[in-house]
Amino acid sequence: MATNNDTKQAPNDAATGLVAGLVNWFNDRAPGAGVAYKKHMSEYFAPKNFNIWYYFGSLALLVLVNQIVTGIFLTMHFKTSAAEAFASVEYIMRDVEWGWLIRYMHSTGASLFFIVVYLHMWRGLMYGSYRKPRELVWLLGMVIYLALMAEAFMGYVLPWGQMSFWGAKVIISLFGAIPVIGNGLTEWIMGDYLPSDATLNRFFALHVIALPLVLLLLVVLHLGALHEVGSNNPDGVDIKYGPKGNRWSPTAPTDSIPFHPYYTVKDMVGVGFFLMLAAFIIFFEPTVGGLFLEHDNFTEANRLVTPAHIKPTWYFTPYYAMLRVVPNKLGGVMVMFGAIALLFLVPWLDKARVKSIRYRGALAKTMFLLLAFSFLWLGKIGSGPGTDINETYIGRVLTFFYFMFFITMPIWTKLDRTKPVPERVTTHD
Ligand code: HEM
Repeated sequence: MATNNDTKQAPNDAATGLVAGLVNWFNDRAPGAGVAYKKHMSEYFAPKNFNIWYYFGSLALLVLVNQIVTGIFLTMHFKTSAAEAFASVEYIMRDVEWGWLIRYMHSTGASLFFIVVYLHMWRGLMYGSYRKPRELVWLLGMVIYLALMAEAFMGYVLPWGQMSFWGAKVIISLFGAIPVIGNGLTEWIMGDYLPSDATLNRFFALHVIALPLVLLLLVVLHLGALHEVGSNNPDGVDIKYGPKGNRWSPTAPTDSIPFHPYYTVKDMVGVGFFLMLAAFIIFFEPTVGGLFLEHDNFTEANRLVTPAHIKPTWYFTPYYAMLRVVPNKLGGVMVMFGAIALLFLVPWLDKARVKSIRYRGALAKTMFLLLAFSFLWLGKIGSGPGTDINETYIGRVLTFFYFMFFITMPIWTKLDRTKPVPERVTTHD
């Protein structure tokens, strides 16, 4: 077990002596910090074959921090009332110094969060990172995904634009489909018969404090669970001990490298590219043609005027499409929530002998590709007006396939002709 003395620094010149002195002073008073730093950074031994798909976890952390920091500044000028919210956002955009930047960093951050998290989840699916012993990492990830969806939904209501109001009305009314308690539940969530001042106030409380706290806690648990069992990798094979040993630690597997500095430096490259993309959107195209910020939301909420097409932001549209293509309201709600619930079960549905897509056969690869294709196409259908009957039929077929992917997963993962898995992780060196 690491002790206080393990983190002691030896001074070798005046400047480093001062730093070492400060570090030692701190370690004597908070020994746990040094131990945690070693466990999760300098002595967290990760597989040496991570590729660019492993950028998205740290990018999700970066966006989470961005949302919290920019959110704090927005809160300083936002007015939490149905009468003032819309105007206060306009005030932030026009009159508050750099307010437009803070607001666009927050609104762009929300969409980028989902892009990053979807790619992060896709990586998990591709490399079988949800498989034993990482089921808990995946489950906690799924709870994060749910909390993130609630967080984004409530945040979108706050500027009190037309889509905030009508989006909230449509989504909260879905609870009305539940037999017996449905109507009472809808009223209880809104605090009124329509989205109103009460709704805005409670969503504000949940969006700025309750859910961010929950998200932070969940992320800590997610990483804690991962670091207990160690990271998976693109080959989906365990890192092994070998005759060469490990040059950083005699007790670490040969196929691993310390997270810090190797992956912190690697992640900086991802951060660089990511910030360039984010800056481009924020400075040149913050609405992304109505995708990140919908045009209707630049008009103040009006309970007497319904927008022509009510639709959620792009990251919810695949589920929204599933809701709409089912003719029955309760059926649609069950399909929508079922689609998310199935993702929780993946660790137990996958019966393949291999973890990574690299060693799966043609059948599994085709199924994975079709899943991605269905999800994206459903996203496109969900963002449309929902009036095209052909699209509705296509949406039904895609929804059916989405469900079949998971329900028949135990069968096709067993039937799949997998390839031999290497004994040790592979690298390009
Ligand atoms: C706020 C959102 C999230 C944050 C900040 C986050 C953060 C991280 C970080 C930093 C890692 C380690 C680095 C890496 O493997 O990329 C990780 C690993 C992982 N995450 Fe997340 N995550 C989030 C959401 C999710 C979601 C929604 C899922 C899936 C439902 C998920 C599933 C996983 C899995 C399975 C791993 C292990 C990957 C492996 O070892 O191959 N995460 N996460």
